[in-house]
Amino acid sequence: MDRIRIVGGRPLQGSIPISGAKNATLPLMIASLLTADPLILENVPRLADVRLLQRILGNHGVDVMIGGKRAGESTYDGETLHLSAARIVDTTAPYDLVSRMRASFWVIGPLVARIGEAKVSMPGGCAIGTRPVDLLIMVLERLGAEIAIDGGYVLARAPRGLRGGDIAFPKVTVGGTHTALMAAALADGTTVIDNAAREPEIVDVADCLNKMGARISGAGSSRIVIDGVARLSGARHRVLPDRIETGTYAMAVAMAGGDVLLENTRPDLLQTALDVLSESGVVVSATNEGVRVARNGAGIAPVTVRTAPFPGFPTDLQAQLMALMTRAKGTSRITETIFENRFMHVQELVRFGARIHLDGETATIEGVEQLRGAPVMATDLRASVSLVIAALAAEGETMVHRVYHLDRGFERLEDKLAACGAEIARISG
Ligand code: EPZ
Repeated sequence: MDRIRIVGGRPLQGSIPISGAKNATLPLMIASLLTADPLILENVPRLADVRLLQRILGNHGVDVMIGGKRAGESTYDGETLHLSAARIVDTTAPYDLVSRMRASFWVIGPLVARIGEAKVSMPGGCAIGTRPVDLLIMVLERLGAEIAIDGGYVLARAPRGLRGGDIAFPKVTVGGTHTALMAAALADGTTVIDNAAREPEIVDVADCLNKMGARISGAGSSRIVIDGVARLSGARHRVLPDRIETGTYAMAVAMAGGDVLLENTRPDLLQTALDVLSESGVVVSATNEGVRVARNGAGIAPVTVRTAPFPGFPTDLQAQLMALMTRAKGTSRITETIFENRFMHVQELVRFGARIHLDGETATIEGVEQLRGAPVMATDLRASVSLVIAALAAEGETMVHRVYHLDRGFERLEDKLAACGAEIARISG
């Protein structure tokens, strides 16, 4: 199993290219199931999750061709995927695949919309807490599907097709909103989604679906209206920049000090997180090429933050912010409101000498003068990268074990940081 070795204490200087967003790529790939024509996705990040979803879609009969530069080449240009679901050969998504990546449950929407049936394994728990799919099932029921649960599988049937309906989410759900968009795109009649997720990835998927011939308006607001169409066609779409990768490197620079340009990204994708960084004393500026982040000399001021659905502070940056606040000059408070138990990183951060007290959904972090490197264990994607951030400023050596978690969502992380002067290397095997 690969490990990552980091020796802390070096400021970061230079530029980091930001990849296409994982959390847009995955639903966009799944949207290929909606049409018999090819869907071409550009700026696709090279990630373990993308490879796994390729396999899952392959199982349904989707033909995936990869173009563009290959991993290992010096450029960071994303790959181009050609996905063709001319013939769906299997409408079952089995447990061994769905349990490895929760987002693969989302195939249920397009399969039932296009083929009239789907049998998809319930995903089960995961490291960031209980993550039910009841609201995704509610979506399909509202659109007229018959649902049964048998042997750990959700069976959805709509032999005469889905029909438009009103969907009011009791809580904001990204996966629920993606499912509603994709299923309603091919339903008969109009669907109105209230309390829809407003995340930029929802807007990106809606844009792509509209290029495919869907009639979706209001994506990015909490009310989305979809006029169903009889069929969708192929399209070419460029995946938007990864706002979580952007925010992660912004926090890495804030932690290590230095001055870095985050290229090919947009500040509006993560304004709340950038505002929090500014509040903590980091200099953040928008440029034509991306976002510039600098901290030269000044200390880190403590902050009080609650995670919230977009445009609030993202749960996917909570662990990284906590790592940064371990060295703040004072006491910070971070409240996690989206996922219960998304605090697996706390015990590992404590191994660096961080002082963190957990009380329910709130972590109180008392900043310390200096962290010290330690062997630590990655537990989930965002928790793992928070350990890398802590290590960049810790005295001495850190070894991060189980880095396959990082490979799920960060493309060539060690190369990107090393190019800015960090002492970081992967140790294979
Ligand atoms: C998406 O997960 C992201 N995944 C997550 O990113 C992200 O943390 C999350 O949205 C919140 O922003 C992808 O886009 C692939 P939700 P999703 O449905 O869609 C509850 C990462 O690290 N809920 O918005 O699964 C749920 O338990 C990942 O990249 C129900 O109660 O999240 C949570 O409390 C991790 N019933 C809240 O809603 C349901 O049926 C929001 O979850 C569905 C969700």
